[in-house]
Amino acid sequence: MKEEAKLTVGGKTYKLPVITGSEGERAIDISKLRKETGLVTLDPGFVNTANCRSNITFVDGEKGILRYRGIPVEQLAEHSSFVETAYLLINGKLPTQKQLNRFSILLNDNSLVHEDMRAFFQNFPRAAHPMGILSSMVNALRAFYPEIPERSDEEEVDITMTRLLSKVRTMAAMSYKIFKGHSLVYPRADFSYPANFLNMMFDSPVKPYTIDEDLVKALNVFWILHADHEQNCSTASVRLVGSARVNLYAAISAGICALWGPLHGGANQAVVQMLNDIHEGGGKLTPFIARAKDKNDPFRLMGFGHRVYKTFDPRGLVMKKICDRVLKKLALEDPLLDIAQRLEEVAIKDEYFVDHDLYPNIDFYSGILLRAMGIPVPMFTVMFAIGRLPGWISQWKESMDNPKWKLERPRQIYIGEKKKDYVPIAER
Ligand code: CMC
Repeated sequence: MKEEAKLTVGGKTYKLPVITGSEGERAIDISKLRKETGLVTLDPGFVNTANCRSNITFVDGEKGILRYRGIPVEQLAEHSSFVETAYLLINGKLPTQKQLNRFSILLNDNSLVHEDMRAFFQNFPRAAHPMGILSSMVNALRAFYPEIPERSDEEEVDITMTRLLSKVRTMAAMSYKIFKGHSLVYPRADFSYPANFLNMMFDSPVKPYTIDEDLVKALNVFWILHADHEQNCSTASVRLVGSARVNLYAAISAGICALWGPLHGGANQAVVQMLNDIHEGGGKLTPFIARAKDKNDPFRLMGFGHRVYKTFDPRGLVMKKICDRVLKKLALEDPLLDIAQRLEEVAIKDEYFVDHDLYPNIDFYSGILLRAMGIPVPMFTVMFAIGRLPGWISQWKESMDNPKWKLERPRQIYIGEKKKDYVPIAER
């Protein structure tokens, strides 16, 4: 028998279907609520609201579980590559060797960026944040790669997804080189996706870059851990903007803007800045912990807390391990790592953090890993964006493939003034 919820309002009882997801998550389906009752629901921040049914990513925030298409993220981090994980997210299953080879060739074939785009990159002010540049340039991709009417919709979607996956990585490295005022390094077909990125970032005519396979592995893991996270703020933005049926470049550009924020992807940059402040203040943790707990202070402990995870973020646990490994391999001693470890120890035992279910999230250790790789701090959130691309693309595609995809448009409860008459300016 189908389960139902009952809602009694104004003496009348309404029945609402209860639906269950494949992992047992239950939800009350209110899609006909307004039509049948005249009521809407109020849920600021969508804390209790599911916007779609999705078969891409499963997160259990209470148990600290994250799976892409059913596969635990820890297994993917151990055995997969970022390109293979991207294929998995977008196509729903792991590729065969032949499919993976073909996908890698397609990514290589699409990795160059239109030379005319350089002029745009070069004319951003020096101090422009790379996330602002990236979102603008991704939006501009449509102008450089317009739709070709002869192509079927499916072919157009395929080529657009491949272009994005490949070119965003090139554009990220390109913006760094232009920011430095150095000559560009082009992608190479003989390098893997992450090796290519490192080479485009760090190779130079005066100092050739040597690919370090341990760093390539670490970057693969970094991007796999970021590849999708169900309906987070940026993905929800991609779906919402996409629901107006804008082109995919515009929808992804919206996702990049959302990710930029310090409460979301921008936290990786904010964590390192916070750890630096602690370091510069002599390494004392107490004032920062006290500020984070003070209700009158907007300061938050960056890299702590998550809307969904109420225990350790499973991505954070893998990130911490890979971070330790890279620092050891490079024989680096980073005082910020020491501060991060002490901060974690103190915070997870602190009553406030325990009571509020605040644990380290993915961003807590990711910045230290990126620093060790030589990635400059303003590029940290760009690194997150490259990683999240397969997730945005697959979530957008899932919506596009749904013939019932509705324009996404929340309701509101109006609390403004009641009707009143216009007052001419001379009488105000
Ligand atoms: N430090 C101190 N207090 C915090 C923190 C924090 N980092 N995070 C939440 N709280 C407190 C908050 O003050 C509130 O307290 P009270 O109930 O006493 O008023 C309570 O915890 C709930 O906070 P909230 O803002 O309602 O919770 P949320 O689910 O909306 O917030 C969050 C999630 C990630 C925005 C928040 O934890 C935060 O701001 N963390 C710091 C930024 C950060 O690390 N973001 C990266 C998230 S992981 C990457 C990603 O997927 O985007």
